[in-house]
Amino acid sequence: MSYLELRNLKKRYTHNGPLIVDNMNLSIEKGEFIVFLGPSGCGKTTTIRMISGLEEVSGGDILVEGTSVLQKKPRDRGVSMIFQSYAIWPHMTVFDNIAYPLKLQKVKKDEIKQRVQTAAEATGIEAFLDRYPAQMSGGQRQRVAVSRAIVVRPKIFLMDEPLSNLDAKLRVSMRTELKTIHNKENSTTIFVTHDQAEAMSLADRIIVMYRGKIEQIGTPMEVYRDSATKFVASFIGTPPTNFFNVTIEQGEDAYTAISPDLYYKIPRSLNDAMQPYGCKEIVMGIRPEFIGVSLDMQKTAGYLCDAVIEFVEPQGSFSILIAHIGGEEIKIVTSEHMEIPVNSKVSLNVKDDLVMFFDPVSGKRIS
Ligand SMILES: Nc1ncnc2c1ncn2[C@@H]1O[C@H](COP(=O)(O)OP(=O)(O)OP(=O)(O)O)[C@@H](O)[C@H]1O
Ligand SMILES: [Mg+2]
Repeated sequence: MSYLELRNLKKRYTHNGPLIVDNMNLSIEKGEFIVFLGPSGCGKTTTIRMISGLEEVSGGDILVEGTSVLQKKPRDRGVSMIFQSYAIWPHMTVFDNIAYPLKLQKVKKDEIKQRVQTAAEATGIEAFLDRYPAQMSGGQRQRVAVSRAIVVRPKIFLMDEPLSNLDAKLRVSMRTELKTIHNKENSTTIFVTHDQAEAMSLADRIIVMYRGKIEQIGTPMEVYRDSATKFVASFIGTPPTNFFNVTIEQGEDAYTAISPDLYYKIPRSLNDAMQPYGCKEIVMGIRPEFIGVSLDMQKTAGYLCDAVIEFVEPQGSFSILIAHIGGEEIKIVTSEHMEIPVNSKVSLNVKDDLVMFFDPVSGKRIS
């Protein structure tokens, strides 16, 4: 039995309106750190508000430890939510902010004191209990919100973009701390973000959402290496995957992906997968880090096409090269050691045959 289960979960905000959450099915195990990742408007907040009980469902079920919680009030569901805006009260001290949910539950004073202390220690703000939020930094306020969520000892933590109004550096350090707290408390967590780097660094499993549907469920490496759809391939990874419309041609012993601008011999191991697509147009995706650059124009294995490097963007430990293939801009990631002058004529190849093919209509991965 899963710890939290969403069964055919649906949401419409108006009677005949669009399905904002479209038949979501998901099982989460105890102690997992789950990240909902998807672009703005795909239904992430709506989904976790339904789990918390702040929003009614239009269909389907939500089960915690095998029992439906739909009839339960938010405070009886055993979930704690951290909002994007923290929602901590400026007129209360840090202590009172953290103690608030316990007061609502009519927990005894002594116990409140002890539990607030423990929750504050977990996030390292025990020295600030007498302060008001205005006397604290953004990161410290964030910890108050986290402590207030911990203090109720929830079954499930729901965090809706909790780091989004911190500056870039603080975001990175807070996410490490959230993960540390998670490891310590072994709490089951759903963390919402539209930042793929944040998702990759935090998640045990990422749920990639698009237009109210789950596109893929997998570990960070699975969604990166084995993207199930064109959308996932484009959303995960920076710079994003390069896509090319190609026609599949059958040769003597292997298939070839061709377009007016490129020619790529598909490895024979993909013959079976390519067979239904002979003479058809499909989409080929190559991640920027899997495009190799040959300055001496060698047509090596995995050869793709020739190109002119138009821009070089050094990033420190690597560089991003920009070129055009058939009018489309493509990006290539190279190691810092490869110094490539602008306007160099090069040949491009696919490293280790790390290509992805997608159905042009459904966007689903072919191989
Ligand atoms: N109360 C509401 N009434 C009607 N439509 C709503 C309501 N709340 C959200 N929506 C719509 O539902 C869709 C999903 O919204 P939701 O807030 O769940 O997206 P999200 O994935 O959290 O996006 P973001 O990353 O921008 O926070 C959006 O199109 C939004 O306009
Ligand atoms: Mg949202």
